[in-house]
Formats: sequence, C-alpha cells, structure tokens
Amino acid sequence: MPRNELFVTTKLWIADTGYDKTKRAFDRSMKRLQLEYLDLYLIHQPYGDVFGSWRAMEELYREGRIKAIGVSNFQPDRVMDFIVHNEVAPAVDQIETHPFHQQVETQKFLTENNIQIESWGPFAEGKNNIFGNAVLVAIAEKHGKTVAQVILRWLTQRDIIVIPKSVRKDRMAENFDIFDFELAQEDMNAIRQLDTGASLFFDHRDPAMVKFLSEAKRNT
Ligand SMILES: NC(=O)c1ccc[n+]([C@@H]2O[C@H](COP(=O)([O-])OP(=O)(O)OC[C@H]3O[C@@H](n4cnc5c(N)ncnc54)[C@H](OP(=O)(O)O)[C@@H]3O)[C@@H](O)[C@H]2O)c1
Repeated sequence: MPRNELFVTTKLWIADTGYDKTKRAFDRSMKRLQLEYLDLYLIHQPYGDVFGSWRAMEELYREGRIKAIGVSNFQPDRVMDFIVHNEVAPAVDQIETHPFHQQVETQKFLTENNIQIESWGPFAEGKNNIFGNAVLVAIAEKHGKTVAQVILRWLTQRDIIVIPKSVRKDRMAENFDIFDFELAQEDMNAIRQLDTGASLFFDHRDPAMVKFLSEAKRNT
C-alpha cells in the first residue's frame, strides 16, 4: 500500500512531555512504526510540560517529519492558552465525542478557531448499552443500517473526524460503509436529545485524575 494512502496518528504520553523527552519519544515511535514521516502527532493529555513538547513538535513539523500537530483532551481554555502562547496552533483536538457526550459548544469553539474536532470513543466504547439504544436502533432500522453506522454517519455529517476501533475485519468494513445514506434533520434532532453533556469516562479537570494519570507510566 502506498504510504500516502495511509494516515497515521500517534500520541505523546504525559511522562514524555518536555522538549528533550518529546524528541526522544517521537524517535521511539517512528522506529516502532517504521515510518519516515508521521501524519499527525498529538499531545495525549493537557498535563506536564506541554509547552516544551510543543516547541519540539513545532520543530519536527517545520522539518517535515510530522505533517500536522495537535492535541487531545484539551478543553477550550487549554486550547486558547496554546493558541495565544505558541507560533503554530493545533490542527486537531481529539476529544471524547459520541451520542451521550456531543461536545456541541466545544465543537463551535474549535471551528471558530480553525481547529478540527476528532472524536475518540465514537461508540462510547459500548457503554450505556449504546448499540441497543432505542432511538439509535429506530433510526438504523429506518435506513437499513446498523447503529454503529448511524453513529459514524451522524458524526461525519457534523464534520467530526471519526476513528472507530475494532479488532474485527467485518466490523471495520461495516464502519467504512457509511457513504450511501444520509440522516435527515429529524434523525439529527432525535440523536441531539441523547446528549448528557458529560463524560462517560472521567473529568479531565478532576485533580485526582490529573494526579493518577500523571503517575501512570504510559497509556495507550
Ligand atoms: N485520546 C484519547 O485520550 C483516547 C481515549 C480513548 C480512545 N482513543 C482512541 O479512540 C479510538 C476509538 O476507540 P475506542 O476504543 O475509544 O472506542 P470506540 O470506537 O467507541 O469503541 C470500540 C468498541 O466498539 C466495538 N465495535 C467497533 N465497531 C463495532 C461495530 N460496527 N458494531 C459493534 N461494535 C463495534 C469494538 O469491539 P471489537 O473491537 O470487538 O469490534 C470495541 O469494543 C482509538 O483509536 C483509540 O486509540 C483515544
């Protein structure tokens, strides 16, 4: 497969933040991936010496070793801090986004600031019986599609990048097959009602979580 048909993203963990550690972590990742350039490099969490990391990432970006640099789990205040105090603004913010946590206001903020929103956990990692949700099941039946396809189509129609995860080949094919139908405004409105406005995982501003994650050696 030609390299330019792949889009490869990887992330920098908290323990590797800081200028020098970021350069080393990037080289380690590239060695493991056996790639000459990376499409997107993200700071995984808004903790640690993320400004030092960003300096290193800006350099790697200017050298062409990374095509785009961005952040993950940054809420609007952290994103604005980054925009104001850096030369290169993040291209992407990868944040938890699914029917139960729709990120409507955050998306508006990111769009206004020319930053692309990307959803992690588009299926809420299966939490809240998402695949059996009555609203989503009804919309899926109406279109002759699966709940997973409805969710990915809903995110795509909202101009949100999706990165669903599956270890099953048949599901990977299913998750790509979302370009032969369109959700009507009434479908979009019905899904809008499912928003709880809160994470199904944890609050990135909870001090206990900041401590816990910062002490974790490395995450996926
Ligand atoms: N930036 C961050 O902090 C962060 C945090 C979490 C995740 N992520 C990223 O987000 C991406 C998405 O992964 P995710 O694990 O969070 O969650 P997800 O995509 O919401 O859910 C994955 C789960 O859905 C199942 N699944 C996938 N396709 C399906 C289908 N068509 N029908 C039914 N079930 C289906 C998978 O099972 P099977 O594998 O058995 O099919 C798996 O259990 C990953 O690339 C991950 O690295 C980023």
